[in-house]
Amino acid sequence: MAISLSKVSFAYEKSRKTGPLYVLKDIDLTIDTEKNDFITIIGHTGSGKSTLVQLFNGLLTPSSGEVNVFNKIISSKKKTKLKEIRKRVGLVFQFPEYQLFEETVLKDVMFGPKNYGLDDIENRAKRALQSVGISEELFNESPFSLSGGQMRRVAIAGILASSPDVLIFDEPTVGLDPKGKKELLDLLEKLNKVDNKTIIFITHDMEVVAKAATRVLVLDNGNISFDGTKDELFRNEKIVSDNSLILPSTIRILKDIKEKLNLDIDIYKYNVNDAYLELERALGGQK
Ligand SMILES: Nc1ncnc2c1ncn2[C@@H]1O[C@H](COP(=O)(O)OP(=O)(O)OP(=O)(O)O)[C@@H](O)[C@H]1O
Ligand SMILES: [Mg+2]
Repeated sequence: MAISLSKVSFAYEKSRKTGPLYVLKDIDLTIDTEKNDFITIIGHTGSGKSTLVQLFNGLLTPSSGEVNVFNKIISSKKKTKLKEIRKRVGLVFQFPEYQLFEETVLKDVMFGPKNYGLDDIENRAKRALQSVGISEELFNESPFSLSGGQMRRVAIAGILASSPDVLIFDEPTVGLDPKGKKELLDLLEKLNKVDNKTIIFITHDMEVVAKAATRVLVLDNGNISFDGTKDELFRNEKIVSDNSLILPSTIRILKDIKEKLNLDIDIYKYNVNDAYLELERALGGQK
């Protein structure tokens, strides 16, 4: 099963003189959900990341080209029923307050499962809220009385409650404290590895890429300028400098040690344990 884009361009606006102002241009892309990837999408602000992911579940329709989501075609040429697509591909917006609308937190999270005709909706909603760390005292509060971080968690629970196959998160860790950020990332990694969900995660945070990504897409001015593994990404000096990427901390530290101690080491390690093993190997080799 897959989400695939074929020659997709998208414009929000038209200029009288020059025609459509494209923010995405001629994009070809396939996301094979059988691979259970954890895909991170990175790129400069305004490069088109949020626009791209809204094409994945029919929130936006391509201006030209075709989006195929689990064999349903979304194009400007025909109307497609989007309910089934939305149930299978859940999206948490960059600004979660746009996503919340019910009177209470619990009702808000129940909305998706109810809309999609699922059963046991109250328990589904409660489980989803618990999994994102929202306690019961908040279930009957208005979602708009919550803090930014809590709203984000409720919006995430609202998507989790319908158990989609693909979960898309647009900068979900913004507004969370460090503990909340770690818990959310752990939860998404569990959904990916244990429950076999495909995760698509827009971020500016290279630590997230280092920790979780199995595939990275770089958007540059409406084009996909890179599509590969995180290792291919961070080893590619041109892509790193063109996109002003800050290397993950383990790589920066190993780079410093390599220069200061003049060691022959591979600096491209993505966690402390692998960095330690590499140092041990290099230092052992020097004895
Ligand atoms: N609703 C809209 N109407 C008109 N133009 C828009 C709209 N939303 C986005 N744009 C424009 O489309 C381009 C791509 O925006 P998009 O939000 O997809 O970028 P992004 O990569 O998600 O940026 P950021 O990292 O700041 O979230 C930008 O030039 C933006 O100004
Ligand atoms: Mg965005």
